[in-house]
Amino acid sequence: MSESAHIPVLMDEVLAALDPKPGQTLVDCTAGLGGHSSRIAQRLGPSGRVVLFDLDAGNLARATETVGVALGDPARVVPIHRSFAWVERELAQRGITGDLLLADLGFASNQMDDPQRGFSFRQDGPLDMRLDPSGPVTAADLIAQLPERELADLIFRYGEDRLSRRIARTIVEERQKQPMSTTGRLASVVEQAYPPAARRGPIHAATRTFQALRIAVNDEIGNLESLLAAIVRQSESHEWLSAGARVAIISFHSLEDRPVKQAFAQLASSERARLIHRKPVFASEGEIARNARSRSARLRALELL
Ligand SMILES: C[S@@+](CC[C@H](N)C(=O)[O-])C[C@H]1O[C@@H](n2cnc3c(N)ncnc32)[C@H](O)[C@@H]1O
Repeated sequence: MSESAHIPVLMDEVLAALDPKPGQTLVDCTAGLGGHSSRIAQRLGPSGRVVLFDLDAGNLARATETVGVALGDPARVVPIHRSFAWVERELAQRGITGDLLLADLGFASNQMDDPQRGFSFRQDGPLDMRLDPSGPVTAADLIAQLPERELADLIFRYGEDRLSRRIARTIVEERQKQPMSTTGRLASVVEQAYPPAARRGPIHAATRTFQALRIAVNDEIGNLESLLAAIVRQSESHEWLSAGARVAIISFHSLEDRPVKQAFAQLASSERARLIHRKPVFASEGEIARNARSRSARLRALELL
């Protein structure tokens, strides 16, 4: 497998939850390399349509091509290089109504594996972390500019690291000596902030700080909340999702799963949607053995009424 491959997680479970039918319109909020969308597109056929969102223009282009082939009519793929936070406006402007909506949150393996993107502390590279490389703020900007208190709050809120204050203090001390512009340097500074005993834990000391910066650089929780608010509004007006539309969201940590769970519960309790699963669906042991990334994936799905 090439370095930049991305294996779609919970593929069979997504197909079962969305139950795609010929001629339907899929809105894939996170095209990635088009893995999920291609499989779904094969069921939609050439009378179907696929709208693809991605912040990463490179991924969007690759997904557009792959999904066009899978659908059997490239002209029925609609690529949109914008955050899925804008899904409502982008679909309404084009007069498109979706029957199926998928969001497979976070980053794709090819983004994580490319040291130049700066997502990984395992390989040295520029401290970037933008999903959209034309976006305004990099992780290096946040590290250079945030006051210590805000840095600590960010690492606590988005990284859930109890050592956030120590980490922020060490970062501020170190950035005064020399600007911090690489993933390797940040990783070693965070490690330095950890007491030696805590460094021996099951995950690398920098894991949570890197997660926090990535979430902040890309406003991941804000984007997700906008998408969920649009789905909740939609359940009353059916302007860009049809009545009976199915929605599936895959999240990778509790910060993402919490707002999804709450929005879905709100829709179900007001009888505007039916939950497809009572509990989130996790990857099987077999899938986890084949694809370690699926270990933390959880799928929630609903049908709008
Ligand atoms: C986990 S990958 C999706 C993989 C895809 N399901 C597949 O099977 O190939 C997530 C993708 O969503 C994109 N992304 C993340 N947040 C986004 C947002 N707010 N709006 C649009 N795309 C986003 C990332 O750039 C990345 O390509």
